[in-house]
Amino acid sequence: MSKTKKPIDPGYFRRYAGRRGSYAKLWREHSPVDMCVDQFRHPAAPRLRNICVLGTATGQVLREFDRGLGIRPHGCEISRWAFERIPKAYRSRIRCEDMREYLEKAEARGKVFDLVFSNSSLVYLPRRELASFLRRVARTTRFLYFNSSFKGAACRDDYREILETFDWWNVRIKRAGFRELKTDRGASTFLWESKRLDPKAIDLRVGSRGRGER
Ligand SMILES: C[S@@+](CC[C@H](N)C(=O)[O-])C[C@H]1O[C@@H](n2cnc3c(N)ncnc32)[C@H](O)[C@@H]1O
Repeated sequence: MSKTKKPIDPGYFRRYAGRRGSYAKLWREHSPVDMCVDQFRHPAAPRLRNICVLGTATGQVLREFDRGLGIRPHGCEISRWAFERIPKAYRSRIRCEDMREYLEKAEARGKVFDLVFSNSSLVYLPRRELASFLRRVARTTRFLYFNSSFKGAACRDDYREILETFDWWNVRIKRAGFRELKTDRGASTFLWESKRLDPKAIDLRVGSRGRGER
């Protein structure tokens, strides 16, 4: 496993997304967590039993998933500084760990998530590791929600390895074993569904809530 560009340090959260403000002040402007929650609150959406957040920061998004969907996510955060600031109620399910190690261990245990949520965290991975990491994601989750400021001026921070367009990411995510999900009007949902999982092994039909882990 090779090193990421610049280790994420408290400065990352103090000048979030290359801006002057802190993560605590700016996170909502940069997180699509509400959009993701709304998609799964839709009556026709499959019911999720569990969620994994790759890069939880200080935990605000964990609270949003809990409030919106009644699910306290699992996940990981590479920064010890951020991890220690996650509210206790959520921290027990989060590991202070690099997502590459975290997902490798999860796969070794046979864990399958219903949803992996990544708000930009994949952009910090070394490019040469992205393809194999995405293949692992496709083997360990049914849905992937990924959003990033694709080639945008925002989030142009010193820590980022990958600054590419949505199409660039879409090709690679699909190549790893996902199919893209679109709205009825053909717009992007930033959601992909894995083609690598056995559909019989995952029962996510509406109405299946309560049988699995919450
Ligand atoms: C853009 S922030 C998003 C935070 C939060 N998910 C949100 O939506 O507001 C990306 C987060 O991923 C974390 N991160 C970056 N690389 C990581 C890695 N290899 N493993 C785990 N976390 C990582 C960063 O420390 C940061 O907290």
